[in-house]
Amino acid sequence: MTRIDTKPSGATSAVTVRGLVKHYGETRALDGVDLDVREGTVMGVLGPNGAGKTTLVRILSTLLAPDAGRATVVGYDVVRQPRQLRRVIGLTGQYASVDEKLPGWENLYLIGRLLDLSRKDARGRADELLERFSLTEAGKRPAGTYSGGMRRRLDLAASMIGRPAVLFLDEPTTGLDPRTRNEVWDEVKAMVGDGVTVLLTTQYMEEAEQLASELTVVDRGKVIANGGIEELKAKVGGRTLRIRPADPIHLRPLARALDGLGITGLAATVVDTERGSVLVPVLSDEQLTAVVAAVTARGITLSSLTTELPSLDEVFLSLTGHRASAPQDTVPTDTREEVAV
Ligand SMILES: Nc1ncnc2c1ncn2[C@@H]1O[C@H](COP(=O)(O)OP(=O)(O)O)[C@@H](O)[C@H]1O
Ligand SMILES: [Mg+2]
Repeated sequence: MTRIDTKPSGATSAVTVRGLVKHYGETRALDGVDLDVREGTVMGVLGPNGAGKTTLVRILSTLLAPDAGRATVVGYDVVRQPRQLRRVIGLTGQYASVDEKLPGWENLYLIGRLLDLSRKDARGRADELLERFSLTEAGKRPAGTYSGGMRRRLDLAASMIGRPAVLFLDEPTTGLDPRTRNEVWDEVKAMVGDGVTVLLTTQYMEEAEQLASELTVVDRGKVIANGGIEELKAKVGGRTLRIRPADPIHLRPLARALDGLGITGLAATVVDTERGSVLVPVLSDEQLTAVVAAVTARGITLSSLTTELPSLDEVFLSLTGHRASAPQDTVPTDTREEVAV
């Protein structure tokens, strides 16, 4: 895809945020946030409900003015250059923003016209994007008749009309079922492949791991951790390997065997009799491989082998010593990686 109107070349940071503050009365929605999103990368902003994610996205897309601090997007200041800034961004809000009464195609065409495309270009772009997001047929029907996943895909298509250099996705899959969530992830990956820079907010560690290369964890308006995904996962204790023997009789012998292996740094196993599995916390790929090799060597038939990421709640507990400040959705189990055995 082509990019339009980006700032003078040489910039490596597409989004720069410094000391950003936003109050709503007594509530400090943003309490001095610093953030950098490098050009061509996906930054995940992970945090529970009320952390300040939407407030951040609204400020970065010029829908809301900050009380203090600075933010620029491809070099344009959110306060001083809102018009130029809006020309280089795309936004998909937490809630669907399309007109339900209008067909999908009309929605895209109208947005194109609003963005000053000629009739011909707006038509072409609507056709192209519907096809791209597998909505060509559906494009003739009112958006109100779409499934949740189709609506979200239409939203993504709408945010791409202006060929944005930077895309803001605010909880793009919250409320979607696991299969639809996977579809949306695939679309986002394809957009990233086109070179667009993405700032994505999410409540799901799983989603951050799927899409983002870097992560900023926010809680109560403050950044509580940031860095590469791997780095952060290591900080919070990595993954848990769940091994389910076909015959429950093998549960305890398997756990004992793994505890007796002496793999460097490997934590003790936990037996989950309710779900008939042995849980092994693994910190590294080497540990994971060694455990799987040991299980295989014993010749025990397994019915499943899965790795589970720490939940957002566990990440918070580990980083802050307290639980996330608001009740959490849990990560749907179906989206966990399954390894066939
Ligand atoms: N328009 C508003 N008026 C008053 N308080 C608000 C408003 N928008 C957000 N808040 C509060 O600011 C905090 C951050 O909200 P928000 O940015 O929506 O968080 P998130 O998107 O991470 O769930 C919350 O405590 C929320 O209740
Ligand atoms: Mg929000």
